[in-house]
Amino acid sequence: MAQRRSLAVPYGAPVLAVSFLACVATGLELSVNNHAADFTLSTGLSPAISLSCLVHNSSQAEELLWYRGDGQVALKEGNKVNISNICISPVNQSDNGVTFTCRLARDKSVKVSVILDVQFPPQLSGEETLHVEEEKDVTLTCNSKSNPQAQSTWLKDNQSLTLQQSRHELYQTSEVFQLSIRKVQKSDNGTYTCVVESRLGNGTRDFHLIVEDKKPVFPKEAVIAAVVVVTITVLFGIVARKDKIFKCFKKSRETSL
Ligand SMILES: *[C@@H]1O[C@H](CO)[C@@H](O)[C@H](O)[C@H]1NC(C)=O
Ligand SMILES: *[C@@H]1O[C@H](CO)[C@@H](O)[C@H](O)[C@H]1NC(C)=O
Ligand SMILES: *[C@@H]1O[C@H](CO)[C@@H](O)[C@H](O)[C@H]1NC(C)=O
Ligand SMILES: *[C@@H]1O[C@H](CO)[C@@H](O)[C@H](O)[C@H]1NC(C)=O
Ligand SMILES: *[C@@H]1O[C@H](CO)[C@@H](O)[C@H](O)[C@H]1NC(C)=O
Ligand SMILES: *[C@@H]1O[C@H](CO)[C@@H](O)[C@H](O)[C@H]1NC(C)=O
Repeated sequence: MAQRRSLAVPYGAPVLAVSFLACVATGLELSVNNHAADFTLSTGLSPAISLSCLVHNSSQAEELLWYRGDGQVALKEGNKVNISNICISPVNQSDNGVTFTCRLARDKSVKVSVILDVQFPPQLSGEETLHVEEEKDVTLTCNSKSNPQAQSTWLKDNQSLTLQQSRHELYQTSEVFQLSIRKVQKSDNGTYTCVVESRLGNGTRDFHLIVEDKKPVFPKEAVIAAVVVVTITVLFGIVARKDKIFKCFKKSRETSL
């Protein structure tokens, strides 16, 4: 009877009960750098920071696991049981926004995550010298990385750039600041400076825009006309001498026979 009743229980129920029991059974807590819940760790660019994960209230030896994003961090023996430390060295821009998680090996739902907030002053890059022909379009691209977000502007020859709605266009994402100029004029020639200001510092980068003379347009029509005239002349020449050529051809065939 008892067996029949348990068979009637839907498949999902025992699984749920088991995982619920496991959760209650571990009843353990982790902490990372004394935080029992997920937290954000703000830091500058630094030679190293360490994260220390601890098991609390365990009645037995507990193995710990560390993850960087989704990837598991390889831990040395002696740095896995009850307490585990990892060191991020050096801390650079590419660690910004990365999540480090400490988990209990026996029950991975027991975990504490740390999100790194790596703050650094603007870092700029981009091609410095651009040659452009008059009346062509050009785009100056200033690659800019910073955290926190920064304020970006363009200068021209050390003066603030007056944007002309019909010719200038700005484009900005978190990592790119662009200035596009349509139909470049001689007066656009000069040094453009990308200026990025944040509370951690300012970054500047100079872009030299060299406007070159318009290259003379290749006279296509004249060339086509000349080719046509030459072709016709040659054709007339051949037609006029057709007899001779034909005869000559015939003759040579006769001799060879
Ligand atoms: C863990 O132990 C501390 C005392 O060391 C106690 O205050 C806390 O309530 C315990 N936590 C759990 C989840 O049992
Ligand atoms: C881990 O903690 C458990 C429970 O407190 C203890 O029995 C065990 O010896 C500890 N192991 C290590 C390696 O510290
Ligand atoms: C950050 O450091 C890692 C090594 O820890 C290195 O592989 C990576 O290239 C560095 N990234 C930058 C942007 O410097
Ligand atoms: C802009 O000013 C700086 C110093 O204030 C100077 O060194 C630089 O030559 C100037 N650049 C131009 C294009 O005038
Ligand atoms: C064009 O700009 C460049 C970069 O600022 C400068 O070196 C050059 O002298 C300028 N040429 C003219 C004709 O103004
Ligand atoms: C950045 O530039 C702004 C405006 O030009 C200025 O007020 C500020 O002092 C500069 N900050 C640093 C760190 O140089």
